[in-house]
Amino acid sequence: MDRAEKIVVGLSSGLLGLFFLALLAAARLKAIDVPPCLPPEVRPFQTGRIDTLPDGTRQIFYVARMWRFEPEVVEVPAGKPVDIFLSAADVTHGLYVSWTNTNLMAIPGAVNAYRFQLPQPGVYPIICHEYCGAAHQNMVAYLIAK
Ligand code: CUA
Repeated sequence: MDRAEKIVVGLSSGLLGLFFLALLAAARLKAIDVPPCLPPEVRPFQTGRIDTLPDGTRQIFYVARMWRFEPEVVEVPAGKPVDIFLSAADVTHGLYVSWTNTNLMAIPGAVNAYRFQLPQPGVYPIICHEYCGAAHQNMVAYLIAK
């Protein structure tokens, strides 16, 4: 390896190291982490429901099925944490809360979960973003933040 090659390899390695450190710093500053494991008692479910924890956190158990979400309309407090648990009753669906970065897959036999909050009062459509059949484009639900 001649001197020029050593310089290029050294600069490339340094740049990769810099990118990796930037990634770690961004993850730490933004509190980004891998999702926690769900407790074993959270099993795939077939009926949508809404719970409220003693601290006021709203928990929504969504079931995605051809071609609707259950529950379809849910009111949540703006600026407060909301837990979504998502299960699929038939095929793979997607759940995207409009104008947020809340984006989950509904996979048969599995439960996905995510905690988020809606900062502003308003109506937030939830759409299915995974093609799931003939009426996929009609699969919509609404979160109403008050
Ligand atoms: Cu459900 Cu597309």
